[in-house]
Amino acid sequence: MNDTEEVDVELGEAMRTQHACRYYREDPVPDEVLRQAVERARFAPNGGNRGAARFVFVRDPELRRQLGEWYLPLWEEVAAATRANKPAITTASGQHKTTELGFRDPAKTLADSDHFAQRFGSHPVIVVVCVDLAATHPTDTELDRLSIVGGASVYPMAQNLCLALRDQGVATTFTTLLVAREPEVKQLLGIPEHLSTACHIVAGYPARPFPTRLHRPEVRELAYADRYGAAL
Ligand SMILES: Cc1cc2nc3c(=O)[nH]c(=O)nc-3n(C[C@H](O)[C@H](O)[C@H](O)COP(=O)(O)O)c2cc1C
Repeated sequence: MNDTEEVDVELGEAMRTQHACRYYREDPVPDEVLRQAVERARFAPNGGNRGAARFVFVRDPELRRQLGEWYLPLWEEVAAATRANKPAITTASGQHKTTELGFRDPAKTLADSDHFAQRFGSHPVIVVVCVDLAATHPTDTELDRLSIVGGASVYPMAQNLCLALRDQGVATTFTTLLVAREPEVKQLLGIPEHLSTACHIVAGYPARPFPTRLHRPEVRELAYADRYGAAL
């Protein structure tokens, strides 16, 4: 135990300060802590209660090193676009991927995220969150837009995993950039063909205290009463 760890943090406090941790200590996270986090996260809501999510906790240094090697160029592409004030990256197939940052000090966030990305493969744990898409019920595939509902069967459990780790003093960062390398990641970790990767959560004991306040939209900007735009 040390001064950056908080155990049994109050739920409201945890929700208000659940940040993307960019600086980790090197100490390993005991398997029992990871197991306890899954023990709690498994109660998350999920479509049809079909249990479509799976977690691979990567602690092996060589496997993490490989994941980090794949992650860094993906981050560097985003960071370069952001630094060049390009609001989005457009893929070969015409998809727009926004690169803007909603922070008061984007330069600091970029520097922190560079630090995080350069050490991606050295952070103590990388949780590969997988989902069996055949066990999801995406209700939006016939709309003329990207589907988001398939992912909804796995993200609540992934967020609860982060909260359950936080409750044991472990900080996390949600990442999705590495999903672009899904075939290689699946092969590296022996992930079965029928599973897809949803995100990669970095976890470890934080090198700095948890924040006391995060920069987010105000309630009046997020929530409306009965009609969009009407104040709640
Ligand atoms: C769905 C999702 C995908 C994300 N992907 C990445 C990522 O690939 N790389 C990264 O550095 N951060 C990623 N993040 C972290 C966000 O940048 C972070 O949650 C946000 O900037 C707020 O940061 P804060 O909690 O420190 O204020 C992701 C977060 C979410 C929820």
